[in-house]
Order: sequence, then structure tokens, then C-alpha cells
Amino acid sequence: MHKIEELQQYLIENSFSQIFVLVDEYTYKHCLPILVDKVDEISERQATILEIPSGEENKNFITVENICNSLLESHADRKSLLISLGGGVVTDIGGFVACIYKRGIQNINIPTTLLSMIDASIGGKTGINLNGVKNAIGTFNHHTVSFLDTDFLKTLSQRQIMNGVAEMLKTFLIADKDYTKLFIEKKDFSYIEDIFIERCIRIKEEIVEKDFYEKEERKTLNLGHTLGHAFESYYMTKTQTEHLLHGEAVAIGLYYALKISEKYFALHKETFLSIYDFLSTYYKIPSLIEEKENIFSFIKNDKKAYKNRTYFVLLKDIALPVINVEINDFSLFL
Ligand SMILES: NC(=O)c1ccc[n+]([C@@H]2O[C@H](COP(=O)([O-])OP(=O)(O)OC[C@H]3O[C@@H](n4cnc5c(N)ncnc54)[C@H](O)[C@@H]3O)[C@@H](O)[C@H]2O)c1
Repeated sequence: MHKIEELQQYLIENSFSQIFVLVDEYTYKHCLPILVDKVDEISERQATILEIPSGEENKNFITVENICNSLLESHADRKSLLISLGGGVVTDIGGFVACIYKRGIQNINIPTTLLSMIDASIGGKTGINLNGVKNAIGTFNHHTVSFLDTDFLKTLSQRQIMNGVAEMLKTFLIADKDYTKLFIEKKDFSYIEDIFIERCIRIKEEIVEKDFYEKEERKTLNLGHTLGHAFESYYMTKTQTEHLLHGEAVAIGLYYALKISEKYFALHKETFLSIYDFLSTYYKIPSLIEEKENIFSFIKNDKKAYKNRTYFVLLKDIALPVINVEINDFSLFL
């Protein structure tokens, strides 16, 4: 991930025929002025702003078609550049459009949420939802370049910050014992120091460099996600309850993935005590016993389930992940 200060030079060196900036209504309001202020080329080249409605529910073909129509109307050619300025929804959609418009144009991600800085904007995965199935359609984009500016976090809500914190904890848990300890000892999460963000980005980049197509090592990034996705999907079906953000669901998934790891590998009880404490302090961890029938049926439908077998990422210790652990007897979770 490059620093935002390098973007001006990148734009000058690449002489794009036109520049488009994809935003949603919130990043239009809060982030575009910062970008224009920091990168003269954006205003000097009179970049075209393409605004889409925010929210996961708009990560679909309708939005993609609208963007493609706007690009066509503006005579965007294959030397055009699409800058995605936003959270994971904007970068997932922008990355996808950049892959398919005229068989591919250059895409730049400028992530503006914590979650997109440390996760969604790295690793080249793009995606949109289809018929309620998350990321059912998508591509791997080798050519995306990302630029980081943590100033964007200043306008992000605390709930959205904690959404990213859960994914940060997951990344440290699979790869770095020292940073896990430092991170959970941090008492104030209203501000996230750049060293944590930069370390987290580096870990994901290193994993992706080794295994771009998620054959082996990249799967470790799914720690907490099998149960997390099950809770996320289940909460979507509960009309009276507020939906969970992805990171909030991952926090629940992490909590139970560690509990299962303890039992599966017969670990010492103390191994994850401070992590359980952290997770239940900052996130609402529902009881699995009360919701077991519902949650287990969602786990069986998880996209990572294969031939009715369910696979988990577990931890033998902090920074010692194990992938492809087959667990079909869910009583281990209780
Ligand atoms: N491609 C990948 O590898 C990958 C990885 C993880 C997640 N994702 C995807 O990312 C999406 C979730 O991303 P997200 O959590 O960033 O959500 P999001 O993009 O919906 O952003 C959350 C909200 O914050 C607003 N926002 C963004 N930046 C802001 C800022 N600086 N100040 C104020 N408001 C701001 C947005 O407009 C939105 O309302 C999901 O669709 C998920 O599937 C993709």
C-alpha cells in the first residue's frame, strides 16, 4: 500500500486519458474534499465524480450498470482511470467495474474506512452481491493499486471503527503475537495509531503475495469467518434485531473459533483468556447454546462448506493458525 502523498506523482507518470472518482454520498461529503486538497492532479485534470448510493444493498448489478453507463457517456476509453474512494462497498464495486469495463481499465483504491484500509482494499478481490448472496459475482484484479491516508478515519463513526478493529485483531491473531498483545492492551479505540494499521496491512499483503488465489495460506484470513458469517446471515433474517456489521459478526466468530480451538487442540485454559476478555468488553457476544439450531443450519450453507463437510480455521496458539480443520460434529462448539 502506498501513501497518499505518492498519488500525485503516480497520476503524472501514468498520463491517463481521463480520471473518474467513484464515491458514495458520505465519502463525497467527508473524503472527496480531503483528496482534492491533497492531490492537485485531481482538480487540475478535472476528474469526473461518479456518485453511487451507499450501503451493502447497493452492491449489485444495477449500480455496476449505472457506473458503466456513466463511463460510456463520458467516452471513457481503456486508458481511463477509476479511483474508488470509500469503504469496502465502493472499493469492491469500483474494482469490479474496472475489471469489466472495456475488458479492463486501471483501478486505484483509496480506502476511507478502517475495515477497507486493513482488509477490503488489499488483495485484489472484487465483488458484488446477487439474489442476497454476498459476493456471489466477482473477480481477482491483479492490477489494483492502493493509497493510504488515515486522515479519512476522523469522520468515521466509533461503531465503524470497531468494525475494523475486529478484523485487525483477527489479522494479528493469525500472524503476530507481539502485536496481538499490544493491540488488546490498548485501552482507547477512538484513535488507532498508524503503526497498528501499517503492520496489519503488511501482514495481509505478505499473505496475499504468497497465495493470491487463496489455495492455502490466504485461507488463514478466514479465522472466525465461518461462524461469523452464520451469525451475520442469521441476524439479517431477524426482523426486530439490528443487523450486525461484518466486523461485529467476525468478533463473535473469533470468540467461538478460539473456544473450539481450545477444545480441539486440548490447549491450556489460559491461552486465550485476555482475548475473550477483549472481545466481550467491546462486542456483544450472543450465546451459541440459545441460537444453536439456527446458527448450525447457516454454517452448513456456508460457501466454504464442501460436499456437506464444514471446514474451519483454528489456532494452535496465537500466530499459529491451522486451516481446513473439518468439524461436522457441532457439539464441540457448546
Ligand atoms: N474485497 C475484499 O477483500 C473485502 C474484504 C473485506 C470486506 N469486503 C467488503 O467490504 C464491505 C464492507 O466495507 P466497509 O465496512 O468499509 O463498509 P461500507 O463501505 O459500507 O462503509 C461503511 C459506511 O461508512 C461510510 N463511510 C466511508 N468512509 C467514511 C468516512 N471516512 N467518514 C464517514 N463515513 C464514511 C460509508 O458511506 C458507509 O455508509 C462489504 O461489502 C464486504 O463484503 C471486501
